[in-house]
Amino acid sequence: MTIASACGKIILLGEHAVVYGRPALAAPLPDLRATAAASDLAEGEPGSVCIEAPDIELAAWLHELSPDQPLAVIVRLTRQALAIEKHPPLALRVQSSIPVASGLGSGTAVSVAVLRALSAHWGHPLAPERQSALAFEVEKLHHGTPSGIDNTVVAYEQPVYFVRGDATQPFPIGAPFTLVLGDTGLRSNTSMAVGMVLQAWQAEKERFEALFDRVAGTVALGRKAIEQGDWATLGEAMDKNQQLLQEIGVSSDELETLIETAKQAGALGAKLSGAGMGGNMIALVETEAAADIEQALQNAGAAWTMTVEVGA
Ligand code: PMV
Repeated sequence: MTIASACGKIILLGEHAVVYGRPALAAPLPDLRATAAASDLAEGEPGSVCIEAPDIELAAWLHELSPDQPLAVIVRLTRQALAIEKHPPLALRVQSSIPVASGLGSGTAVSVAVLRALSAHWGHPLAPERQSALAFEVEKLHHGTPSGIDNTVVAYEQPVYFVRGDATQPFPIGAPFTLVLGDTGLRSNTSMAVGMVLQAWQAEKERFEALFDRVAGTVALGRKAIEQGDWATLGEAMDKNQQLLQEIGVSSDELETLIETAKQAGALGAKLSGAGMGGNMIALVETEAAADIEQALQNAGAAWTMTVEVGA
């Protein structure tokens, strides 16, 4: 049996504007992972794949799945990339501890875990650059115009400074910092949010381009603050970015409640992370305050919370 996994991710600064060519910062969540296990079956047709994903109550043969089912897509893309057609019948089991549809990259992590397990099982492990490119193909099917930030940070499993179309740039974290994540419990539908921003941009190009430029300003401010370990300034950059995300139209009352709660409980800054409209917010906190802030978020209705150390 060959087992592989891939991490979840957060966007620290710059979501949505990154689709329009502005930079963004993202970091991996090494403790939240999707896992895929591949093993040869004693019986079955050559080239057949039996897929089990208990988290989504899926148990089916590959040929029974709709051609655009994400697991079916990544299995076929990986076979194509490796030019493998007639492999021994295979069992593929996929599990994930990453909350789904909440801005934490669960779909991307599943794609990368699967392509890692399959390529290792067939003796041709893929480099991160190829992993990222294959996972991007799946994103394109489901999100229309993805920037590529999710597949990049998950495939490289390193903090990245990302600009659409540019070579991947890891960025140095001066000293580790602590974030508290809080999930609204509402689904964050990336293609819907990205589509809504696209419509708004089409209707008011000048205004939205100016908003995206201001988002880019918060990314520059935050990047420098991270390099210097200046947490007050990073918090300020996150707050400014959140105001802009509100103006862009992708925040929600539930996100605002959790963000405000974290700030009142002592967070240095807080914002939504990912596509928004639901999903998770992230708060920059003093490490000692993390447990209290998690508790405050839970009291305010967070469906799930977690403390993470970025750059540790
Ligand atoms: O998939 P999510 O929820 O992490 O959102 C991705 C970030 C966006 O900027 C909203 C979309 C993109 O492709 O960059």
